[in-house]
Amino acid sequence: MNKSVLVILLIVIGISSCSHYDDIQKTAKESIAGDDESHKSGQNCMSCHNASGSNEALQEGGWWTIAGTAYRSSGNYAKEGLVELWTGPNRTGSLLYKLAIDELGNFYTGKIVDFKGGAFPVLIDKNGDLNNAMQSSTLIGACNSCHGISTPNISFK
Ligand code: HEC
Ligand code: HEC
Repeated sequence: MNKSVLVILLIVIGISSCSHYDDIQKTAKESIAGDDESHKSGQNCMSCHNASGSNEALQEGGWWTIAGTAYRSSGNYAKEGLVELWTGPNRTGSLLYKLAIDELGNFYTGKIVDFKGGAFPVLIDKNGDLNNAMQSSTLIGACNSCHGISTPNISFK
C-alpha cells in the first residue's frame, strides 16, 4: 500500500472511532428525577455496567462512570435530591458533576466525568441544601463498591 493512502486510511479510522465515541457520549443514559428505569438498588452497579460487563447490561443500560444508591435516614430508598461531586470538601471548590436520584434511590451516568484530583461527594436535599458529605475524596465512581459493603449506605440525615 502507498504510504500516503495508509496515512489517509488511519486518519479516517481515527475520525470515525472518534465520532462513535461522541455518539456514545450524546446518547449516554443518566438518572432522572421521578424515573423508575433503573433496578438493583444497593448493588454495585459497575459489577455489570462496566467495559467487560454483559452485552445486555451495556446495550440496554450503559457503562456507568458514576453510580450508586442513596437512602433516607429511615432506611428506605431516597426518592428525591441530588448527588453532587465537588473538588473540595463540604460543597467547596468547583462543581464537577450533578446527578438526580431516581424513584429507586439510584443515581447513574454513562457520561465521562473528570474527577480531577479526586471528587468529594455530597447529598443535596429537595430544597437544594447540603444534607450530608463524604469527608474524603474518591477517584472511584462505583459508590456501592464501598457503601453497603465496607462502609454504611449513602444516607440522608
Ligand atoms: C447483575 C448485573 C447488574 C447489576 C448489578 C446492575 N445492572 Fe443495570 N442492567 C443489567 C442488565 C442485564 C440490563 C439490561 C436488561 C434489563 O433492563 O434488565 C440493565 C439495564 C439497566 C438500565 C436500563 C434499563 C432500561 O430499560 O433502559 C439501567 C438504567 C440500569 N441497568 C441501572 C442500574 C443501576 C443504577 C444499578 C446499580 C444500582 C444497576 N443497573 C445494577 C444488569 C445489572
Ligand atoms: C473507596 C470507598 C468509597 C467510595 C468509592 C465512595 N465512598 Fe462515600 N464514603 C466512604 C467512607 C469510608 C465514608 C465515611 C468517611 C468519610 O466521610 O470520608 C464515606 C462517606 C460518604 C458520605 C457521608 C456519610 C454517608 O454515608 O452518607 C456520603 C454522602 C458519601 N460517602 C457518598 C458517596 C458517593 C455519592 C460516592 C460515589 C460517587 C461515594 N461515596 C464513593 C467510602 C467510599
